[in-house]
Amino acid sequence: MKKEFKRTLVTTALPYANGPVHIGHLAGVYVPADIYTRFLRLNGEEVMMIGGSDEHGVPITIKAKREGVTPQDIVDRYHTIIKDSMAGLGISFDVYSRTTSDTHHAMASEFFRTLYDKGEFVERSSMQLYDEKAGQFLADRYVTGECPHCHNPRAYGDQCESCGTSLAPTDLINPRSALTDTVPVMKETFHWYLPLDKWEDYLRRWILDGHKEWRSNVYGQCKSWLDMGLQPRAVSRDLDWGVPVPVEGAEGKVLYVWFDAPIGYISNTKELCPDSWEKWWKDPETRIINFIGKDNIVFHCIVFPAMLSAYGDGYQLPDNVPANEFLNLEGDKISTSRNWAVWLHEYLEDFPGKQDVLRYVLTANAPETKDNDFTWADFQARNNNELVAILGNFVNRALVLTQKYFGGEVPACGELMPVDAGVFDEIRSLKESISSNIRDFHFRDALKEAMNMARVGNRYLQETEPWKLAKTDMARTATILNVALQITANLAVAFEPFLPFMSGKLCGILHLDSVNWDMLGCDSLLAAGVKLGEPELLFEKIDDAAVQAQIDKLNRAKEANALAAWKPEPQSADVDIDTFGRCDIRVGTVLECKRVPKADKLLQFLIDDGTGSPRTIVSGIAKYYDPEQLTGRQICYIANLPPRKLRGVESCGMILSAVSSDGSLVVIGPTGPVAPGSKVG
Ligand code: 2FM
Ligand code: ZN
Repeated sequence: MKKEFKRTLVTTALPYANGPVHIGHLAGVYVPADIYTRFLRLNGEEVMMIGGSDEHGVPITIKAKREGVTPQDIVDRYHTIIKDSMAGLGISFDVYSRTTSDTHHAMASEFFRTLYDKGEFVERSSMQLYDEKAGQFLADRYVTGECPHCHNPRAYGDQCESCGTSLAPTDLINPRSALTDTVPVMKETFHWYLPLDKWEDYLRRWILDGHKEWRSNVYGQCKSWLDMGLQPRAVSRDLDWGVPVPVEGAEGKVLYVWFDAPIGYISNTKELCPDSWEKWWKDPETRIINFIGKDNIVFHCIVFPAMLSAYGDGYQLPDNVPANEFLNLEGDKISTSRNWAVWLHEYLEDFPGKQDVLRYVLTANAPETKDNDFTWADFQARNNNELVAILGNFVNRALVLTQKYFGGEVPACGELMPVDAGVFDEIRSLKESISSNIRDFHFRDALKEAMNMARVGNRYLQETEPWKLAKTDMARTATILNVALQITANLAVAFEPFLPFMSGKLCGILHLDSVNWDMLGCDSLLAAGVKLGEPELLFEKIDDAAVQAQIDKLNRAKEANALAAWKPEPQSADVDIDTFGRCDIRVGTVLECKRVPKADKLLQFLIDDGTGSPRTIVSGIAKYYDPEQLTGRQICYIANLPPRKLRGVESCGMILSAVSSDGSLVVIGPTGPVAPGSKVG
């Protein structure tokens, strides 16, 4: 039997404040959590949504060092960007705080100290990587090296982003310090460990027996961790950024970021309700739901529950952890460091007033059961073919027809015919299906059903054709438009959790002061005679140019990345001067340049080489140049290579090009005019 709860606490993974948030974060965590919370609020339930920035951890300190600023500067910058942009998208946190707050430091510190005093930790010495040049231990991302599993050469000391495996710095092959690029040495240190093995049976019963209803990706990941056997996990680090370990003799040590971050959910609740926070965490009648991405499953389902259980004092464990898979971007993994992302704050600038379009696309394409791909073409298509053509179109028709035939006043409703009453039956049945899908965390399906409600409206107008009836039967036309407006009001309610901006605008036009879920399915939300606001388009088409501008932006990021990652090839083995001298390099002038038929890589050149009889050279650079770009230019070529036939054309020499960072070829030549045939050397 399903447990009954009095209230719901929704937590959202705290994003690292080392960069802005992107569409992957939104699709994975914040948009679904916001839909869920708004839905419960509309139902009049007691609910709170907790968010905040995760401001500790190694990536923040690395970024600070690279920029020559303090970690506090970095987190101040990104906390503000993240907080403002989430508000801009309508993510309705009840609190959005940060883990550098005093409340958080005090609570995380007290939490550690309690476990320490209860003897819940084991203290262990181990050999760790140490950077002698920087004079510090290398925790987590301070080390890079080769992944022992997939051999990705750029794995981090806590995780390989290529194959997703969790790692320890000492697992890496050929480790190097991210601080000084030197090879670290091994040095002894000590840390406190949470003995997860002690909690294994308890967690096994709680998850594997008690929560079979969890999403299969979450349940499966937990099962595989539990089946592998849990090991003690270090909960402190040798670092100078974080919550200091509150124990004598722990100078230079801080809490591991994954120890303090989830406590942030509790400290942020306390910040919001200093007097009543405990009921949200310790009352068995509170349902706790953790919205996270799949890379956070182990911390929320295994480590944090073990911490809470070790602490005791009534702390409740989550009732569900609806983790999403990943959202990719144009076929590639989203990456903050490679700038391969659609950043929320930039989206809000580039598409003002289009918050709901992003919310819609990210929900319609949410990675609930598998990784999904965001493409700008899909974004445009969903806006133009769904939001504009289905939802916007229906609402606009209902409002414009009311304007035209009834001067913008809600017309009186006569007797309802079966076709009219059927509409409300359909709305009531869709309401049930939206509700159950949201309660079961199936947000994509819920949104589909909400769109079906707009389809019901379109079909109704198509069937009843009030624009035709208006010529003969005004009373029936009035009833039909009354029904169409009631459907419009129902849509304002049904879409509030998904598209709150659209819903708010519609409520403004319809003069609906407040909405709640009970209203949904009702055929008399609007009173006859009410003068509606001016009809406004709810959505507008997005043109190709806007989408191309975004694709160009991504391509620029890709190019910049290639350039940043580029390193010159190692120098070749020495040659003596005589060997070099035998290579006859000359300057020539391109008299003619054309494509070689049926060979998409080749260009055929006729070169003035000063001899009076121009030479032909065939070169594989057609991908990088149009023939006209090179005609008349001076280029360098090797003159004394034996002639070779390429696609039936005899080529006498080779044109010299440089290989660019992205692999493209750039022809080289003199910087000023030179007589054709001049030697290069
Ligand atoms: O993966 C991340 O982005 C982490 N900052 C999430 C932390 S969730 C919670 F534990 F705070
Ligand atoms: Zn790997």
